[in-house]
Amino acid sequence: MTTAAERLDGPAQSLWVSPGRVNLIGEHTDYNDGFVLPFALPHATAVSGSRLPERRWEVTSEQTGETVTFDLRDKVDGWASYVAAVVWALREAGVDVPGARLAVASDVPFGAGLSSSAALECAVMAVLVDLAGADVPTRDRPRLAQRAENEYVGAPTGIMDQAASTLCREGHALFLDCRSLATEQVPFDLAGAGLKILVVDSKAPHAHVDGEYAARRRACEEAAAILGVTALRDVDVDGLPDALAKLDDETMRRRVRHVVTENQRVLDTVDVLRAGDLRAAGPLMTASHESMRDDYEITVPQVDTAVRVALEHGAHGARMTGGGFGGCVLALVDEEGCDAVETAVREAFAANGFTPPDTFVVTPGPGTYRVSR
Ligand code: GLA
Repeated sequence: MTTAAERLDGPAQSLWVSPGRVNLIGEHTDYNDGFVLPFALPHATAVSGSRLPERRWEVTSEQTGETVTFDLRDKVDGWASYVAAVVWALREAGVDVPGARLAVASDVPFGAGLSSSAALECAVMAVLVDLAGADVPTRDRPRLAQRAENEYVGAPTGIMDQAASTLCREGHALFLDCRSLATEQVPFDLAGAGLKILVVDSKAPHAHVDGEYAARRRACEEAAAILGVTALRDVDVDGLPDALAKLDDETMRRRVRHVVTENQRVLDTVDVLRAGDLRAAGPLMTASHESMRDDYEITVPQVDTAVRVALEHGAHGARMTGGGFGGCVLALVDEEGCDAVETAVREAFAANGFTPPDTFVVTPGPGTYRVSR
């Protein structure tokens, strides 16, 4: 099978690849200034580009076969809005973005919570910066891509996906402090430990996902204001009982408990990975799932079923990854036990009358890179 980059191979001046991501642990912590631990997928989006003499952008998608053309006066909708958003954010940052002809091809599944939009933003940004000959340091790019998504596209996401797509390193998980943007590349050698990560794309329809995401974010911000802290990151597990005692609303208390305990689970996971004990990440993943299910209330029957069945069939841990209300589950499994888990999950989906899931094994791939020809 050819990769997205191979399919775009041609005379374009610049060709860059940005991956989708899964998050090992640390969900809905990024917009609370907390901690996350994603890794890049082998599945990536490739964007090629050549300068145009005039300031307009012509973008072709391999996926839809469409070409969308826009200039600075247009407000673009649909998939091309992510491209226009990056043009806008780069210009806001003072980059003189040249007009360009761009082509997009992607191997990141759409709508599965694997950050296909961040992959598109980050690859487009890399190509446009390259064509502009501008100096935009890699460490500044996630914030710019996030701004594109928040302010132009209008999705109130945190910084995890853009940071993962930009900064991840092959064979590692990215420990990111979403307040300082300090990073640590944590070795994550699954094969060396005789393990696999099985991804189950639940195929559950993403109903109400935007509104629910915004509501969770708002509840966290309101709770932080009541507690008199900048963000929920400023509450740690020792301070949790006191914080909960100050909140009257039971739903808000559960949201806060998820975020505070989830931050601790990220720190604990980083500790066990640093110590080379990858299996010990399993129970932390499972605890994270239970917290998302019971306290943050962002799971759906399909993902709960995948997690339960994976655990019943020998997974060391399993959890939903990404924003929630569908999307994917990660199961940490022994190499030799992977097929049994996969089969059991498929059978359980069939028995429950769910749409058949997609399943695949992933290893940590590289963040954004240039393809030289
Ligand atoms: C989506 C958002 C991220 C993050 C996750 C939940 O993927 O884009 O910023 O908030 O949900 O952890």
